Amino acid sequence: MKFFIDTANLAQIKEAHDLGILDGVTTNPSLMAKEGIKGHDAIMQHYIDICNIVDGPVSAEVLGTDFAGILEEGKKLAALHENIVVKVPMIKDGVKAIKWFTDNGIRTNCTLVFSAGQAILAAKAGASFVSPFIGRIDDSNWDGVQLIEQIVSIYNSQGFMTEVLAASIRTPMHIVRCAEAGADVCTCPLSSILGLLKHPLTDLGLEQFLKDANSLH
Ligand code: G3P
Repeated sequence: MKFFIDTANLAQIKEAHDLGILDGVTTNPSLMAKEGIKGHDAIMQHYIDICNIVDGPVSAEVLGTDFAGILEEGKKLAALHENIVVKVPMIKDGVKAIKWFTDNGIRTNCTLVFSAGQAILAAKAGASFVSPFIGRIDDSNWDGVQLIEQIVSIYNSQGFMTEVLAASIRTPMHIVRCAEAGADVCTCPLSSILGLLKHPLTDLGLEQFLKDANSLH
């Protein structure tokens, strides 16, 4: 399973990259706004800055919702850097645009996916990635990881090449369960990635080893 970081924060992207386990980055308009990035030029430059840190897919989301607007924005984003993947919402014009981008050699990430039916449409249109939002499904009292299992099973039995990118990850346990479910990619906040490190027995064991190591001198 590939690890992407779900943030537009350059320091966090660098920290995950320096850990040596980072395969890519996902962003969205909310994450860009959180970093205070404003205006077309600043947004474009920020994507280039991210691409210069991470040598892997970097999802940049279109802001338009009509076919022509999505195409215009997506083409500009894709031209910024070879790492850019155009992130497109799961709406009717979005599906049409994904098909157009696929036919024209531009990689896409279909976002805001909450059902297996939507995931089938994204794959039929040729999306490179599909992003089911599992944390938000959990918030609405369903099991987000079950959706990952269902999509993985459908894609495998139908031979779809779209990669299942588990998004809206909230906890380290989400990452473990998505790996079990066969997700191709997990995009996570830095806190969830670092949470994977933690176990109290590791801390206790290390404390004891260090104490005993001192007695060896
Ligand atoms: O990748 C999608 C993600 O950014 C949404 O996460 O926590 O806002 O549901 P969240």
